[in-house]
Amino acid sequence: MAIIGTDIKEAVRWLEAGETVAIPTETVYGLAAVIFNEEAIHKVYAVKVRPVSNPLIVHVAGIEKAKELTVDFPPAAEQLARAFWPGPLTLVLPKNEMVPDSITAGQPTVAIRVPDHPLTLQLLEELNKPLAAPSANPFNYISPVTALQVDQMLGNKIPYILDGGRCQRGIESTIVAFENNKVKILRPGAVTAAAIEKVLQQEVLQKKETNIAHPGMFKQHYSPLTPMMLVDEVTPSLIKGKKGKVALLLFDKYSPLASENDQLLLSANSDLDEAAWNLYDCLHQLDAGGYDLIIAQNMPQEGIGAAINDRLTKAAQQ
Ligand code: TXA
Ligand code: MG
Repeated sequence: MAIIGTDIKEAVRWLEAGETVAIPTETVYGLAAVIFNEEAIHKVYAVKVRPVSNPLIVHVAGIEKAKELTVDFPPAAEQLARAFWPGPLTLVLPKNEMVPDSITAGQPTVAIRVPDHPLTLQLLEELNKPLAAPSANPFNYISPVTALQVDQMLGNKIPYILDGGRCQRGIESTIVAFENNKVKILRPGAVTAAAIEKVLQQEVLQKKETNIAHPGMFKQHYSPLTPMMLVDEVTPSLIKGKKGKVALLLFDKYSPLASENDQLLLSANSDLDEAAWNLYDCLHQLDAGGYDLIIAQNMPQEGIGAAINDRLTKAAQQ
């Protein structure tokens, strides 16, 4: 069983010994391994039961460490790194020979970010090696935002969980790639398209949904085991037709159509950042609540709402 603690030295020891360790970040918990240890990287895939065709995000302590892993760091990447790191933005850049092919699923690019969490930044400093870390959940299940959720999902498979409290942002990083001087969002996330455009003073491209141009960007993802559907509005006819115990996951107002005990609000204050912070925690709660169906409501498609809706859409594709 995993030990849950805050001992950075112990986390370093396990990682140096070729083990995987769950680490806190500002987005979600990651399942980390040293990128130079092939066996440890295999363990990451095995623990998550993740297809090896799905590349991993590399976490480093700062921009200089990121540059050590790439052959090119275009000016737009430099601007974004300076504006958002440490923070929830992942840059996809051409890799050099330091980065093993097992991290990138054989692609010539590597996804890199500097996480904004004091424990993990200190861990990266002390270890002085990059860490590959996908979210610390079984493949296709809900990402964890607390050490306890990691323990419940993976505790019997990993030795140590570094407990950094509840993740501050609650939704994964935004992933961007650089193509012919254009910046393209491959996965919407905690940094909004508008924030990126403001820094670059240029329009960013959005990856069209559902085509799997990049390995690992699957249609279905982040899903609870309970069947889930996504709607714009909860109507009487929607509720009436459903058999069994139904839960509602709503933005800011309870529905009069069901008991409030069976409803969770992502943000009673209509605050989309709070909704993102609550998203996975609420999905974990509802999935453990013995329901036959979760009906979730789309968030306003503005700011971080776009990233929340992306996750809700994928969670509902079962
Ligand atoms: O916030 C986050 O990004 C969290 C924390 C732990 O840092 N990590 C995370 O990792 O969400 P994961 O494995 O759940 O998602 C990684 C995504 C996948 O969709 C994968 O396809 C994409 O990153 N990715 C990794 N390397 C890539 C590459 N070279 N090109 C395109 N996409 C890549
Ligand atoms: Mg994930």
